[in-house]
Amino acid sequence: MIHANDTVLSVRDLTVRFGALTAVNQVSFDARRGHITSVIGPNGAGKSTLFNLISGAIRPSSGSVSFNGVDVTGRAPQRLTKAGLARSFQITNLFFELSVFENLRLAAQALEPSSRGLWPVRRSAIALQRAEELIAQFGLAAKAHELAGYLSHGEQRRLEIAVALACKPAMLLLDEPTQGMSHADTEETGAMIKSLAGELSILLVEHDVGLVMNLSDHVVVMTQGAKLAEGLPAAVRANPAVQAAYFGQGSHHA
Ligand SMILES: Nc1ncnc2c1ncn2[C@@H]1O[C@H](COP(=O)(O)OP(=O)(O)O)[C@@H](O)[C@H]1O
Ligand SMILES: [Mg+2]
Repeated sequence: MIHANDTVLSVRDLTVRFGALTAVNQVSFDARRGHITSVIGPNGAGKSTLFNLISGAIRPSSGSVSFNGVDVTGRAPQRLTKAGLARSFQITNLFFELSVFENLRLAAQALEPSSRGLWPVRRSAIALQRAEELIAQFGLAAKAHELAGYLSHGEQRRLEIAVALACKPAMLLLDEPTQGMSHADTEETGAMIKSLAGELSILLVEHDVGLVMNLSDHVVVMTQGAKLAEGLPAAVRANPAVQAAYFGQGSHHA
């Protein structure tokens, strides 16, 4: 489908209150089609809450989210996934007792025509093919028949991303995809995320500034629930207000 403008996701004045706390406060930004847009900020800035608002896990107190020009504010995650906005669930969405291949095949079942929904999984040629594609794309051939529960932490995180991509979304939402990973796994995952952009649009919520600066086309900075700045990675990094609020503290992340 061709869209007149290249904004894929538009967030406007998004706000959510938890009692007295305004965890996300009037946040607005646009994400461009095919680009990697990142949201960074110190711990407690409201990044995951913003992610949950966009992915439909929680409803905003006010403001809106539109995806491909359609208002999707407050839509449930499953309906968003059907519309092409998928999120990675941080491992909790994997079936540890199933193989890597079976995890991917189950996730790809959503691609089957609905009339086939009750067919045995084995007959689903489309899902089978998609699982094979993802195995190749993510370099999982050697692990395809290993149980997901036996993968390393880094491999599980990457499998999560592959699972999120199984239904061929237009946009992928990732919340700290390299959290808890070794340096080598972080590098590999970063390169993999970068390779996905282009056809796919990506929104990355991330605490690791080094990763964000290398990957992103556009960076949004949050502190205390509000947007502090946005722009190109280098401009954001050079912004004194951003340095004071973010890079100044926990400098090992900068
Ligand atoms: N469901 C909730 N109920 C109450 N407070 C919450 C809830 N979720 C997050 N918070 C609070 O909102 C603030 C932002 O949290 P979060 O979005 O997780 O920040 P980040 O991901 O940037 O570290 C924190 O002060 C957190 O304690
Ligand atoms: Mg978070």
